[in-house]
Amino acid sequence: MHVAIIMDGNGRWAESRGLHRICGHKEGAKRVEEIVRYASTVGITNLTLYAFSTENWQRPSLEIQTLFQLIKLYLRKKVHVLKLENVKISFMGRRDQLPKSVVTEMHSSEAATQKCTGLQLNIAVDYGGRDEILRAVNKFMCANIATSSKIDEATLRKYSDLKDQPDPDLIIRTGGDQRLSNFMLWHAAYSELSFVDTLWPDFSVQELSSAMKSFDAQNRRFGTIPQVAE
Ligand code: IPE
Ligand code: IPE
Ligand code: MG
Repeated sequence: MHVAIIMDGNGRWAESRGLHRICGHKEGAKRVEEIVRYASTVGITNLTLYAFSTENWQRPSLEIQTLFQLIKLYLRKKVHVLKLENVKISFMGRRDQLPKSVVTEMHSSEAATQKCTGLQLNIAVDYGGRDEILRAVNKFMCANIATSSKIDEATLRKYSDLKDQPDPDLIIRTGGDQRLSNFMLWHAAYSELSFVDTLWPDFSVQELSSAMKSFDAQNRRFGTIPQVAE
């Protein structure tokens, strides 16, 4: 099962406590550690976490710097544990605008866990669904410049950031807003959506478990008619 999470609400969590928004991101990073550990144990095969969107560059530079610091710290601190837990880490999004030190850390954690065969953990950094589609189409055009062949669904998928991974079965957004904010626009075509009011720093493994239970009760049709039990 592929679960993707839009981890929203860090800023409001901090502001409601009279703290700087940055404190919310720090607390949010702790939830990432717990959720990743839990995911491996409950049958989640692919976990995608939205950490920084292509639109988040519009935030104050101190906030942006802190977010990148936290990503680097998480990777530096956790990569050996992820490897021990057989977690394979990959990044979605563009890398050309990120600070070099972040890209270096991303590369080394991908390399260190490349052979892991357990949970596939995707972290979306400088990621936008529209940008992903455009990058995929541009990569395809560059590779097929001589032929003028047309792109099809399977090919677009191959050039997308998810490559050969399955689409998310369930997308959870914390923080109370009911929108995708440019997340996985191509891959979300048939995902079940779960919007929860809990702010990300308050999100618990129990809530993830209850979102997964509601998902299990869904009748997923993919455009066909409901299946009748034999
Ligand atoms: C989500 O929390 C984290 C990122 C977008 C990086 P926010 O920082 O958006 O928190 P709110 O939505 O302002 O509360
Ligand atoms: C979505 O949250 C992006 C991430 C969680 C990384 P935002 O807080 O940036 O989204 P909007 O601006 O409320 O749509
Ligand atoms: Mg937000």
